[in-house]
This record gives sequence, structure tokens and C-alpha cells, in this order.
Amino acid sequence: MSHSVALSFEDGVTRFITCEDEQTVADAAYRSRINIPLDCRDGACGTCKALCESGEYDGGTYLDDALSQSESDEGYCLPCSMKPTSDLVLQIASTSAVAKTQAAKHDTVVTAVEKLSATTVRLAVEAPAGGTLAFLPGQYVNITVPGSDETRSYSFSCVSGSDELEFLVKLTPGGLMSTYLSDTATVGDKISFTGPHGSFFLREAQRPALLLAGGTGLAPILSILRTMAAESSTRSVHLVYGASTDDDVVQLDELALLASTMDAFTWDHCVSDPTTTAANKGYVTALLNDTHLNGGDVAVYLCGPPPMVESVRTHFTEAGIEPTGFYYEKFAPSSAAAKESLDDDTDAATEVLANNDRISTIDAAVTTADADVVPAASADLEPALDGRSIFGRAVFGSRVREPLHKRNTGFSASDEVATMRAIASQRVAVAGSTADQGGLDESSDLVLTPEAHSVAAQRIWPSRDIEPLVARRPEPVPVSTSSSGYEIGEEHPSVHESDAVFEARRALELGALELVIGRLSSQQISGYRLLAETTTRYVDGDRFVDAAAYTETNAAFHDYLFTQTGNEHLLQAYRALGVKAAMEEVLRNATWCDPLCAQDHLDIVDAFEAGDRERARTLIADHADRSKATMKRAMHESRTNKRPKFVSPGRFAGKVVLITGAAQGIGEFVARRIGAEGGSLILADRSELVESLTEEFRQDDVEATPVIADLETWEGASSAVDAALTAHGRVDVSIHVVGGTIWAKPYAEYPPEQIEKEISRSLFPTLWSCRAVIPHMIERGAGTIVNVSSVATRGIHRVPYAAAKGGVNAITATLALEAAPHGVRVVATAPGGTDAPPRRVARGPAPSTGQEKDWYQAIVDQTVDSSLLKRYGTLDEQAAAICFLASDEASYITGTVLPVAGGDPG
Ligand code: FES
Repeated sequence: MSHSVALSFEDGVTRFITCEDEQTVADAAYRSRINIPLDCRDGACGTCKALCESGEYDGGTYLDDALSQSESDEGYCLPCSMKPTSDLVLQIASTSAVAKTQAAKHDTVVTAVEKLSATTVRLAVEAPAGGTLAFLPGQYVNITVPGSDETRSYSFSCVSGSDELEFLVKLTPGGLMSTYLSDTATVGDKISFTGPHGSFFLREAQRPALLLAGGTGLAPILSILRTMAAESSTRSVHLVYGASTDDDVVQLDELALLASTMDAFTWDHCVSDPTTTAANKGYVTALLNDTHLNGGDVAVYLCGPPPMVESVRTHFTEAGIEPTGFYYEKFAPSSAAAKESLDDDTDAATEVLANNDRISTIDAAVTTADADVVPAASADLEPALDGRSIFGRAVFGSRVREPLHKRNTGFSASDEVATMRAIASQRVAVAGSTADQGGLDESSDLVLTPEAHSVAAQRIWPSRDIEPLVARRPEPVPVSTSSSGYEIGEEHPSVHESDAVFEARRALELGALELVIGRLSSQQISGYRLLAETTTRYVDGDRFVDAAAYTETNAAFHDYLFTQTGNEHLLQAYRALGVKAAMEEVLRNATWCDPLCAQDHLDIVDAFEAGDRERARTLIADHADRSKATMKRAMHESRTNKRPKFVSPGRFAGKVVLITGAAQGIGEFVARRIGAEGGSLILADRSELVESLTEEFRQDDVEATPVIADLETWEGASSAVDAALTAHGRVDVSIHVVGGTIWAKPYAEYPPEQIEKEISRSLFPTLWSCRAVIPHMIERGAGTIVNVSSVATRGIHRVPYAAAKGGVNAITATLALEAAPHGVRVVATAPGGTDAPPRRVARGPAPSTGQEKDWYQAIVDQTVDSSLLKRYGTLDEQAAAICFLASDEASYITGTVLPVAGGDPG
């Protein structure tokens, strides 16, 4: 039973959690990502003390020092120890902000304002004292513009740990930060910022990296390169740096210096302004070649305006390349709080297009329109009389400034005039001219609307009428967009295709580690440990006790590290990887788990508590490998385990078959085989797993109806038969599989209540199911009942179970006598030991003590020993016998119990 607990915080915020039986309030809160105050977690310190306003609870065990008798009498309680016995309302002695990620605020002073070019300033500030700031190369901060309350976002261009923090700022006429830097900024000015923000940072890996920087998007790339240089990285890395004008090109000397110190670093740069003196004119994509893409085994880091991101993505699509990692940071210029430097670059990037590449020219224009980054209709754009510019924006590069008819192109002078006034084959009149405004070509598939005359800043045609020039991949969901307009994302092949997503998780965690290692308080460590311990409940050795619960608690554990970075983007980036959803899907039916997975969680917390960076790094990397192995095995097992080994096509065509205990084990395999042989299935089980099994059957066009019922009761058994009659009007075959020993021990060790439970589990489901279905079969004068018994009727350490199965044998023999005159057969199989995946829903507690394990092993030994074949059977072998007896092939067999135990007669 679960209870609702309202957590009422000091700031008036109330949040609700669900607390299961035997779960402490603190445990439930942390699993819900609400990090209430916590320290000892054991009722010893009083840190978690809360006031219970209403409800009942078991206070658990605690020390008087933590909670005195008088405090307890007043209603105070300890969420780390208490377990609700009703719904509760608790006052938590903290604000709700404790549960949220919050970036730290830092106050510092300006140390340098250096104009690197006519358009770009280097701003430097003093690093906060005391090592309170750590950041990852590529991250940014929100700086409050001195003299205002507004913030602007700038990426670090320096290395974490530097005494001086450095940023590159593009000067924007009239811009708030630009005006400050140009007019009043002085060394010594007080300045503050929050951060670090962002999930755009260099991930640890050995595969080649391709860095693409647009304008002052060079800043985070510089930080990445400087960090690599500081670490003497030997990783192969190539940079392409693009700028709009020569004035925007900065830090070339620094790049050359970096190249001289890093053997595996190469770089190039280009300027899109046609009048540039740079060696390369055009866009960064023109400088990419196959070597840089490395057949897709490359990590791409791109910081630039949206059109640049889209152009690069298109470039990859055209090349048929899906990079193993595509990390980008782009700026959404629609935001009021625009990042000034990139905002300017956005316009610049749409101005001039790559020389030698007319297709790219047109595509980029379409991309711009699709991306909707152009100013609104009221934008203050001026028409130009030059056909090479559109509303003041240069469109064609200098290559076409020379008249085409003079360049042996086959164009006549009159052709060129028409071309100059046409875009995508549509003639566009020079604004303000009355000449030659013939409108759009009505024979084309373009739509004649007033807006169709708009160009550049305005749409020239409705986007639905334009077929993309290349097949684009679906627009990726942005990982995060901050209030300041930063958009950060990353893309990887899916979990089903590649290991990349696991690598991505590891890389993100290693990044988060750098931000928090040595900085977590004892309270934070306590919360971390609580979540780690919670995951261990759902694995037992190399087996999942409850894979779904493990997935849920594992996600809470991994989320926690990102929460503690204070960087919401990192948490979002982690969640956007979809690891949890992938685990939910893949591990749904999994039984095997790497035996160290849960232990890793505890060890990771230990390493963080000790501030042992290297140990934590190793554990996180190893844990990623173990998670990957668990997922891969689950995927493999789920594929191979699902197919019946033997199938007799059409044997159950037209038959309605009820199977109890269908969610797993023998029942599931019987269902799979009968489904494959044409039967319509009624799948009854107490576990909701029958619903997912039903879904799976339906996807394969097998007719199936799930019934969740407690078959130990008459109501449950009759509801299963009722469901079959409602769905099909009849039951042709009823197969009763429910049963199985709960405990393994000498009879003398069984307490009475366990004996009753064994009988209830393994006798009553068959008794009730036979009773529920037999009247219907007798009435119809047809039908087959197959009970599943056991050769344990002559086995040790499970006398109650054996008694129950002896009862099943008796039911089979006696009911067969009564049913035969009505044309109804009643038969049974008696399975011996059967190899099966560990049950997803356990029958009972696994043997834990040495004694219990010995008793269980004695059963295994006796089972193998009494089999003439000296082995366990398989699920396919058990299903084969059951399906045979259930089929018309066994029409002359009734009242028989068929041992399926390798020669053990039972
Ligand atoms: S008493 Fe609850 S955390 Fe210490």
C-alpha cells in the first residue's frame, strides 16, 4: 500500500510524493528528485527533522539526541527513519530550492578590456577566490552588464583554474554590453556572473574531433583547445574557423601558437565577405573534406549561429555521414536577451555564401527562411538597386561581380539582367522600380501571394512550396534553450544501433565529476548514498530482482550527480540522451545484470566522499561499460528467448486457449508456441507483465486478451474464464500452469503459515481454474484441460509443494473420469527441473543463508540425479509436451499425467 506525503517547504511551496510500504519518507523524496535536508540517514543527527501536521506514521528507530521525546510529542519526526502508515503532511525545514539545480553567483572585478579588432573585445575578469568556480571547456556564464540588471551570455575562452577568466565579445552598435565595454569599462570595475552554464563541452574520448567555430563562437573552441594543450593531448583535432568579415577575425596568432605546441592539431579559417583578403572565402563547410569526417567516427563540436549549424548538418547529410557525436551550441536570435556577439554573426552568416557552390547558396537561403531567424516584417531593411544584394544583404559572392556574359559562360547580357532579378527561377523586381514587374511565373508551382515578393528579411515564398534541396534528417529536439537564448544540443546514433549513447553518458558524467569532486558537502553525499543504496535492493548478485524498479532508482542516482553541478543544462543533456527510456524498453524483461552495477553506485559515492578523483573517474568509466554489457545482453536475450524452437503451423488455428500463469516461465513459452500455431489466447496472471506480452503478441497479429487475476482465489479463476467467454464465447483449451514452490527446506522447518501458502499457491489455482471452466466445457460437450503438475511429488525439501502437486495429479485423474462422458479431456504434464530465466516476479525470497542455499542445492542435485538424461529440461521441451496434450493430436489421451523429466517418473 502506498501513501501520499505532502512536503510543505518554508517558501510556501508544497510538493507531493508517494511513499510505498516499508519506504522511508527520505527515500521516497530522493527518488522523486526532491532532496530534503539529510545527513546521517540513520536517526542520529536530527538534520532531517520535520514537523508532521497530519497523518500517522511509524517513527522508526532514532537517538534521543536527534529527536527528543518532547519533540516527538509535539509532532516532530525524522523523515530518514519514519515510514508513513497513512497520508501525511510534513513541514520541511528548508526552502523548496534545495531540490533544484541552481548555478552559483560569483562577484569579481574586471582585469582587462582589450580591443582585438574593430569588432571584437577581449574581456577578462579575476577568477573568484578560493577555487569556488570550476568549469568545463566550452561552458558559458551569464554576466550582469554593469550598471544594469540585464545579463548577457559569454563562453569562457580560457582554461578552468586560470587566475583570469577570459571572454570574447562582439561589439554591437547600441548593444548594452558593447556600449559598456566601448564607453565606460575600466580595469577594477565590479562585475558579477552566474555559472557555469551549458552542456557544450569537450567530452573525453580518443576519436578525432572536428571543431567548427563561427565568429565569437571561437571562444568556447579556444577554451577546448587551450585545455587540450594544457593536458598535452595527443588527440587528433581539426578546427575550421569562419568569420563574416576580416574585422571579425581574431586570435589567429593564438591558434598558430596552439598548433605549434600540439602535433595532432590542424586548423584553417575562412571569411565570407567577398572583399576579404583571407585565403579562403566562404563558409566553413567549403573547407571540410573526407579526412575531417573520418567516415563518421568523429566528434563534431560546433559553436555558431543557427544557419551555420543547419548548414553543417546538411553538409553531413549530403555526405551520408552521421557523426558519432554532434555537439552544437547555437544562439536563438529571437530571444530578447540575445547573446550579442552571436546575434550579429547570425546576420553575417546569411550574407555571403560559399564561392564555387551555387547549390549551397540557394540551400542556405532556404535554411535561413526555414529557421525563421530573419527579422520580422517590420525590420528596418533597405532595398538595394544591386541585383547581387537583397534588401541590403549581399547574396552572391565576388565571383559573380564580374558580369557573366564576359566570362565565357554562354550567358548573354540580357540573360544576366534576368538572372540578376531572379531567385530560384522566379524573377524578383528591384524594389522601388516600376519596370518589369511581371509577377511570379504562374505556370510554376509557386503560390502567388503578396508575401511571395518578400526576400531575405521577408519570406519570398511559403515554405511549404519549397522542396528541400537535400533530404534533411528530422529536426533534432533541442537539448536545452536557456532564458538567454542559448541553444545547446547533441546528437548520437540510437541505443539500438551504437554504443555511442553509453559513451555520451559516460562523457557527461565525467564532465559533471570535474565540477563537483571535492565540493560535495556531507549532506549532499548522504543524499547520493541514499540513492545508491536504493538501487542495490533491486539486484541480487547478477540477477534483477525487479528490473523496472532498478531502472527507476538507477535514473534517480545518475540524475543526482548532475543536479549537484548546479547546471540545469547538464541535467537536461543527460536526460535528453534517453538512457532511462532505453533501459525501460530494453530491460523490461531482463533478468541478468552485471553483478557489479549496483555495487558501482556505492563505490562511486565512496570515491566522491573521499574526493578521490581518479577512483571516481575509473568507476564511472567502468560502470558505463557494465551498463552497456547489461543492455546488450538483455537485447540479445530478448531476441533469442522469444522464438519457440518447435512450431507446428496451424495446429491451434481457430482454438481459444486460456493459459494461467502466462506472464513468464513455462506459461509464457506455451503461450508463444500456441500463438505461433494459430491459437487465440487468453493470458491470465497476477502480474501486469501479461499486458506487455499481449502487446507483443498483437504486434505479431496474434489475437490475445490479458487478464490480471489472483488465481489462488475463486474470484480470480472465474474472472479469467469469464474474460475468455466474453471475448470469444467459448474456451477450447484451458492450460493451468500457476504454481511453484516458494520455499526450499526440510518439512520439519516449515512453519504452518508457510505450508498454507504453498498449498494456496500450487493447489488452489488448479482447483479453482478447473472448477471455473469445466461447467462450460461440459455444456459444450467439448474441451481439453491441461494441468501442469510436477515430478516433485517424489522430491525432497518441498513437501507442501509436493502435496499440492499430488493434489493436481488427483484432480487430473478424477476430473477426467467425470468429464470423459461429456467429450472433455483432462490431462497433465509433470515437469522435472527446467532451465528458465530467473523470474521477473519472484515467487518468494531467494535463499539467503548458507543453510537455505544448501537446502536449495540439495533439490538441484536430486533433480539432476533422478533424471536419466542427467540434466534439466528446457522451456521448449516443457511447452512441447503441454501443447501436444492440448492439441487434437492427443485426442485419445485423458486422465494421464505425463512426466517430462528426462526419465524421472516422479
Ligand atoms: S536524523 Fe535524519 S538525517 Fe540524521
